[in-house]
Amino acid sequence: MARYAVFGNPIAHSKSPQIHQAFAAQRGETLVYERIAAPLDGFAAAVADFFAHGGAGANVTVPFKEQAFALCAERTARAELAGAVNTLWQQDGQLHGDNTDGAGLLADIRDNLHWPVANRRVLILGAGGAVRGVLGPLLAAAPASLMIANRTPEKAHALADLAKQYKTANHNTPPVAGCGYDQLHGEYDLVINGTSAGLSGAMPDLPDTLLTASGQAYDMVYGSEPTAFLRWAAAHGAATADGLGMLVEQAAEAFTQWHGWRPTTPPVITTLR
Ligand code: ATR
Repeated sequence: MARYAVFGNPIAHSKSPQIHQAFAAQRGETLVYERIAAPLDGFAAAVADFFAHGGAGANVTVPFKEQAFALCAERTARAELAGAVNTLWQQDGQLHGDNTDGAGLLADIRDNLHWPVANRRVLILGAGGAVRGVLGPLLAAAPASLMIANRTPEKAHALADLAKQYKTANHNTPPVAGCGYDQLHGEYDLVINGTSAGLSGAMPDLPDTLLTASGQAYDMVYGSEPTAFLRWAAAHGAATADGLGMLVEQAAEAFTQWHGWRPTTPPVITTLR
């Protein structure tokens, strides 16, 4: 039987096996999907061993996404921009990689939440791996503009420069810029938090005027309680959502790549919630 797995370190609390097994069950199928805690200095060997012993597809999470990128002979354009890979498979004996995080984010925002992205002013907070990982699909969603703001402004500028080189399918890359939080002014329709600040209960120091009255706020992390960013946004009248839907949607995108059919996500999100 074909094996699937998620690689990470730590990995014990990953919900990926539950999500992928729920997708397979929609067609009455069962799936072998393991959690593999690769040693910090042994990721490449663990992946090679997996694909040599019946591995058909693997997801990759922290801290191995950049290493997974380096291992691939072929990568999708969005993975190239991300500089990171979260989905692996083999084709003609070669390792292929994709990054489904951005597609997952956009699927949750547009299809589940019904928040439009096209022609809207979008602000993304943070300039680390999580933000870089979603840039391709975010640009392809054709916002009116994309601002990347970060505590360390240089990293936001560097990411904006990288994003400007990305060619969307219609070659219509929206205007992108980077800045520090103290340079933020004006209003945004959609603010996405891609910093890891929320994990420690902190949040970036943002101006009160940032969100429009009908604004929307999305945090790419999720937990049992709303993050400080989402509490801040709700206090300013914005609609809010956390990243649980993104988790399920990025899994659905990987599942589709491996199995050739797209699972239905809302019931799986509801079960996890
Ligand atoms: P990840 O893979 O989660 O993106 P990362 O690459 O280490 O992790 O990036 C973490 C991001 O969260 C960065 O944008 C970081 O800002 P800096 O580049 O200035 O370090 C941001 N971040 C982390 N803690 C923060 C805090 N307390 N306030 C604001 N931003 C924070």
